[in-house]
Amino acid sequence: MLTVPRMAPALEAGRALSEFSSDVVVGLNHPGQKELPSKYLYDEVGSALFEAICTLPEYGLARAGKRLLERYSDEIVDQVPGGVMVAELGSGSAQQTRWLLEALARRQRVNYYPIDISRNALCRCQAELGQIDMVSMVGFERVYLDGLQEVAAQRRGEERLLVLFLGSTIGNFDRPAGEQFLREVRSILRPGDALLLGTDLVKPIGTLILAYDDPAGVTAAFNKNLLARINRELDGDFDLRHFEHVVRYDQSERRIEMHLRSTVWQRVVIRKAGFRFYLRQGETIWTESSHKYSAAEVVEMGERSGYRSAAQWFDFEWPFAQSLFLAV
Ligand code: AVI
Repeated sequence: MLTVPRMAPALEAGRALSEFSSDVVVGLNHPGQKELPSKYLYDEVGSALFEAICTLPEYGLARAGKRLLERYSDEIVDQVPGGVMVAELGSGSAQQTRWLLEALARRQRVNYYPIDISRNALCRCQAELGQIDMVSMVGFERVYLDGLQEVAAQRRGEERLLVLFLGSTIGNFDRPAGEQFLREVRSILRPGDALLLGTDLVKPIGTLILAYDDPAGVTAAFNKNLLARINRELDGDFDLRHFEHVVRYDQSERRIEMHLRSTVWQRVVIRKAGFRFYLRQGETIWTESSHKYSAAEVVEMGERSGYRSAAQWFDFEWPFAQSLFLAV
């Protein structure tokens, strides 16, 4: 696979670190509730922990998305216009994307463009999906929308674009931002292009809490690694022994929230950011939201964002939907 890099690696690393530093300072200075952006959960350690989460018996989400593609890829592909190129937002889980690419490749030659800010993720994607017959791959090391613009610029003539946004990553945006994101994707598409969107559906609260607070403590380690990452990259002095992983379900927002709760009064210094702050005993830092949808809500959100709903497929073991939208 050819990977299209964003810029010179040293320049890029410097820019990413200063963005990380300023996002951390802004979030920890946030009036009322301290917070950290969830995208920073995924450094190399965090990504490995997330892969482990996906194998946990309590976290059915990843398996549900995969089951749907294993079962329905042929049906999904039948609904997609011919002559399609495929862009995936996030470099994808090898297995589920493989089913879809193989189903497409039974009909046509496929150009597949994974888009991810992580070079490691793109390399893994290459190792896992690089050898499928009739599929060629070019990875874009970009943020989603920039990458999608560049992929769209590659299209020839009447070629259609199929965008994959799987795994319920949309749930990590708050609802208005998720809808805005779908609009921005739509603004890059042409009528007749397609979007396959994975969303986790509302389910009993106990099931959700266990999925994000597993007894083996893998999700707790994933959450705390964000503080460890700040220590490593920004020379912070978070003492991880004085934080606990907390999971809440906000019924009115229909979302799981992950927090890190300080068990003592403490002062934290983040040297490379030139920043120090205080945490009260019991105060939390909000690190991630994971919104849960109803099937109808997904359709409505897509239709408000410039798409027509073509079909939905459901997993009933772990309520989850793959929704196919066509740009209008
Ligand atoms: C990536 N995203 C869809 C996961 C989720 O379920 O919201 C991230 C995750 N956080 C804790 N466990 C999994």
